[in-house]
Amino acid sequence: MNSSDKGMDFKLDLLRRPRRLRRNASLRAMVRETRVGVDDLIAPLIVMDGEGEKQPVGSMPGLFRLGIADLVAECRELSELGVKAVAIFPFIDPSLKDPLGSEAENPDSLVLRAVRAIKRDAPQISVITDVALDPYTSHGHDGVLSPDGKDVLNDATVQRLCRMATLQAEAGVDIVAPSDMMDGRVGAIRETLDEEGFESTAIMAYSAKFASAYYGPYREAVGSASAAGTTLLDKKTYQLDPANRREAIMDALMDEEEGADFVMVKPAGAYLDIVRELRDASEVPVAAYQVSGEYAQIHAAAQLGWLDYEKTRDESLLAIKRAGADVILTYFAKEVAKSL
Ligand code: PBG
Repeated sequence: MNSSDKGMDFKLDLLRRPRRLRRNASLRAMVRETRVGVDDLIAPLIVMDGEGEKQPVGSMPGLFRLGIADLVAECRELSELGVKAVAIFPFIDPSLKDPLGSEAENPDSLVLRAVRAIKRDAPQISVITDVALDPYTSHGHDGVLSPDGKDVLNDATVQRLCRMATLQAEAGVDIVAPSDMMDGRVGAIRETLDEEGFESTAIMAYSAKFASAYYGPYREAVGSASAAGTTLLDKKTYQLDPANRREAIMDALMDEEEGADFVMVKPAGAYLDIVRELRDASEVPVAAYQVSGEYAQIHAAAQLGWLDYEKTRDESLLAIKRAGADVILTYFAKEVAKSL
């Protein structure tokens, strides 16, 4: 085969050749537009009662339910790796659950004890707590049910959330994160915190939280998977319809007006258009939550040998950052922090 057979004599008359800047690693690094850094990462952690062995979560390889001592040790390790914040979720003993989620207002609840322990023994790391009733309710919903059991009562739920947020602020959290999607909860929580003297406690609002199938593994992790014998809990009366972009932006901007210090999009990977649009529309930092199902699917495909684990993991986070997220909640936080 001579050079003309290989097409080597053929020349396009091109002024612009974008490939010039892709020719080698240093050129590519120089023009790279997006980087994921350790400051971007928030590690969600699951805490359980008792000082027993940490418990693996089947559908989330590498994630464990941790007793408080292990949780504090994990926070120290994350902090040493440069991670700035953790988001704490409780695994509540089923015997403590009831239809109202009363345990959420126990001043000595698992989450509050965990927060105090972290603030005492790993004070460098910022602590975010979930303000939602679902870990505490026997039916698994994020609020108080109507008498016919078909709906979640908005205002009654918000009142409970305000008390929950106050207890968390008292325990010393830096950021409370309402993840329930009730209307008006950000404003009500802001007002309550201010009245109680916690005007410095920030609010990260789960603003554009979609009714997503990607939460499945998390519900196993915290034990809120089933409601009244059903396997997939239907939260469509309060979480957003995955079909709705405009409504998501509207709801998120309402949270901002009500005083949210961060607005969040959740899940992240399948909702990058929402992340971008919210980044362009909002004045406050945008958080994106790469949820349990996003984590699980990368692990599952990698276990089958169908995807390269680390490359897919890193690309998934880069895409979320590129879409406009200022911070990313991700179960990959620790290992990515190590790899940076
Ligand atoms: C609900 C809540 C959910 C997650 C965190 N808090 C979702 C839900 O059960 O509706 C999901 C997190 C994940 O999937 O990683 N308060």
